[in-house]
Amino acid sequence: MRNLKDSDKIIEVANKEKLPLDVLQLDVTDYNSVKEAISQMYEKKRIDVLVNNAGYALAGPLEESSTEEIKTQFETNFFGAIKTMQSVLPIMRKQNGGKIVNVSSTGGRIAVPLDSIYHGTKYALEELSECIRYELGSFNIKIILIEPGAVGSKFWNNIKIATESKHVLSPYRKMIDTVSETFSKMVENVIHPSEVAKTITEAVTTDTPEFRYVVGKDANMILEKSKNSSDKEFENFIKEQFNLKY
Ligand SMILES: NC(=O)c1ccc[n+]([C@@H]2O[C@H](COP(=O)([O-])OP(=O)(O)OC[C@H]3O[C@@H](n4cnc5c(N)ncnc54)[C@H](OP(=O)(O)O)[C@@H]3O)[C@@H](O)[C@H]2O)c1
Repeated sequence: MRNLKDSDKIIEVANKEKLPLDVLQLDVTDYNSVKEAISQMYEKKRIDVLVNNAGYALAGPLEESSTEEIKTQFETNFFGAIKTMQSVLPIMRKQNGGKIVNVSSTGGRIAVPLDSIYHGTKYALEELSECIRYELGSFNIKIILIEPGAVGSKFWNNIKIATESKHVLSPYRKMIDTVSETFSKMVENVIHPSEVAKTITEAVTTDTPEFRYVVGKDANMILEKSKNSSDKEFENFIKEQFNLKY
């Protein structure tokens, strides 16, 4: 965890369920903490599984997203995952195997309005994962992508709105308000985070995991729609969903 002061609850649950859990400090944007945490883990045990779950969404029009906001988003969702992978790969190679789970999103395969940088991080993670499975396959290291739809975690409260787009006079104001309404409706139909956890457990406990796991009805529906639509048809479908009339 990046803030160990938040660890009481998970430690309490682990103790209750008699699970041997160690909690270490790790902020994926602080590469020293990644190195330190992984070497501490390896000193004690093997590392068979890495789950890259840390992430958040930056929301707002591209024009109104600052370079700093964009870089921080990539540092967390993309470069953070790269750093943890680079740190565990030498260990997994020595152990002759391991599994790396990258928590992506349906947003890593289809895009919705006003989330371009978040989608950029997830698309990047998807393509990187697709590529490295070839170089890692021969070491028996498996790469797995998890693609949830809308999940009822703290994700929605933790969305960072691009600062400039908060301005009442933003030229994108009307679109931002319209799109936000659709997102608010989406949040009413989320799946429980345990659905995603179950899928990750299934993926890491089987010898022959799939490369991709889509989680949630909405995720399956939208990916199916995208697969069976032309670019234009899909664009019109998304515009309809988000009530964009132009
Ligand atoms: N919720 C959804 O609808 C949804 C849909 C598709 C994909 N996803 C993906 O699912 C993953 C998990 O998100 P979630 O839904 O569980 O959201 P969440 O409830 O906001 O949890 C995100 C977690 O990431 C941690 N985190 C963020 N930045 C970090 C950093 N720099 N270093 C270490 N940890 C960091 C947060 O730690 P703190 O507790 O310290 O903030 C938090 O525990 C994300 O990659 C997200 O993109 C979510």
